[in-house]
Amino acid sequence: MHRLIEPSILYFGTPTVIVSTLNDDGSTNLAPISAVWWLGWSCMLGLDASSQTTLNLINRGECVLNLASVHNVEAVNKLALTTGKSDVPMHKKMLGYRSVEDKFTLAELTPLDAIAVEPKRVKECDIHLEGRVAKIHDFAISDARMGVPAVAVEVTVEHIHALSSLLYSGSKVDPNKWNPLIMNFRELYGLSGRLGDSNLAARPEFLYAPWKFGFLGRLLRRMFFRQYKS
Ligand SMILES: Cc1cc2nc3c(=O)[nH]c(=O)nc-3n(C[C@H](O)[C@H](O)[C@H](O)COP(=O)(O)O)c2cc1C
Repeated sequence: MHRLIEPSILYFGTPTVIVSTLNDDGSTNLAPISAVWWLGWSCMLGLDASSQTTLNLINRGECVLNLASVHNVEAVNKLALTTGKSDVPMHKKMLGYRSVEDKFTLAELTPLDAIAVEPKRVKECDIHLEGRVAKIHDFAISDARMGVPAVAVEVTVEHIHALSSLLYSGSKVDPNKWNPLIMNFRELYGLSGRLGDSNLAARPEFLYAPWKFGFLGRLLRRMFFRQYKS
């Protein structure tokens, strides 16, 4: 028997990627995301339009997608609830986010040069994809349940770096060795189970769904969208 359900947000379990993008001052911003899907050597990133990552992708059009494995759970948890924006957007303040300028230091990660793009790779991640923005689409503009403005960023991958110990037959990733970090309804999992407490899940889930709160919710949602337009 199935029931109709209304989750606040559709986080059904997707691999986590730490996105490197270039800030205006030439430093690299890092942001964990998990709204990513792949097709051929292209992919689509689902992003909060107010994030520093979105701004950097619009301005510079380059990124490194550092694929997180279970070994990166602590770094992802340190990056969670942070933004490279000096002015933390209102909806993120409600979720407990803070502004962080140097996310490499915060998460104890090591920058590595990329080949074709300027943002740095993250040494502690086993797989890095250098990519360029192909197109940016507004996302879910007619979805009344979308709490904040969002974009879908199409990225074309140019170079892929993989730790040699993960590989077999030259350049194939061995699925027995690769254990992606999965964000599953805000909790962090490997392919083998839950990996301890997830900072992303610190505040109540209903904050993702202003549409659930009648007039007050609609008012909040309007404020979130207005803040982005201004
Ligand atoms: C595991 C995990 C997965 C996340 N997935 C996404 C996502 O798919 N899209 C998104 O916009 N934000 C996602 N976030 C939240 C971003 O990290 C957050 O928006 C952050 O402030 C972005 O940083 P920036 O403003 O410096 O770009 C996720 C956070 C964590 C910890």
